[in-house]
Amino acid sequence: MISFRILKSFDASLISKLIKLEVDNLGREAAVNQWQLPVLIRYGKFVVAENENGDIIGVCEMLRQWGQPGQAGQAWQPPGAFIHSFYIEESFRNRGIGKNLLENIIDILKKDGFKSVQLTVDPDNKPALSLYGKFGFVKKLLEIGEYGEGRDRILMELAFDGE
Ligand SMILES: CC(C)(COP(=O)(O)OP(=O)(O)OC[C@H]1O[C@@H](n2cnc3c(N)ncnc32)[C@H](O)[C@@H]1OP(=O)(O)O)[C@@H](O)C(=O)NCCC(=O)NCCS
Repeated sequence: MISFRILKSFDASLISKLIKLEVDNLGREAAVNQWQLPVLIRYGKFVVAENENGDIIGVCEMLRQWGQPGQAGQAWQPPGAFIHSFYIEESFRNRGIGKNLLENIIDILKKDGFKSVQLTVDPDNKPALSLYGKFGFVKKLLEIGEYGEGRDRILMELAFDGE
């Protein structure tokens, strides 16, 4: 049985566990650290999936957006959310947990009054592109060199309008 929880507080042990999950699942370079995790938990939105033992097996970190890429000079847009990181612990993948976590996230964002959510993804990340595509995320633009030379990202968006 997998459950989902918004983290609202933390201690040193939790931060250590999260750092390990970050490094194991995203790699050392992309992992957030002990300086950034408390900020994301306190001031962003940090949702975890936990198994029946209470182990964290999935993570989604979110930010509230001030501006949206590609919309400079356009009319004011209602604030959106941005998914900074999304992953399922490797040994728990391909069991539908990523899908369940994302469903949970979308419910939370709608309840929080957001009208859309954006994220970026590596153009070669087929599992993630497939997952987001199934939820109706659309490709908005290709951010060339977003994370350094040769490291492009696809910006994707899911609009909740009309629901
Ligand atoms: C992307 C990720 C979150 C998917 O989590 P998951 O729990 O394995 O996904 P699910 O089992 O819920 O699968 C949901 C959908 O994702 C896609 N998917 C998952 N694994 C896939 C794979 N190996 N190849 C292709 N598509 C895949 C499929 O569309 C799948 O739907 P289906 O089962 O109907 O085919 C997971 O692979 C992961 O954590 N990857 C490493 C971190 C990462 O890349 N995060 C995204 C950063 S933008």
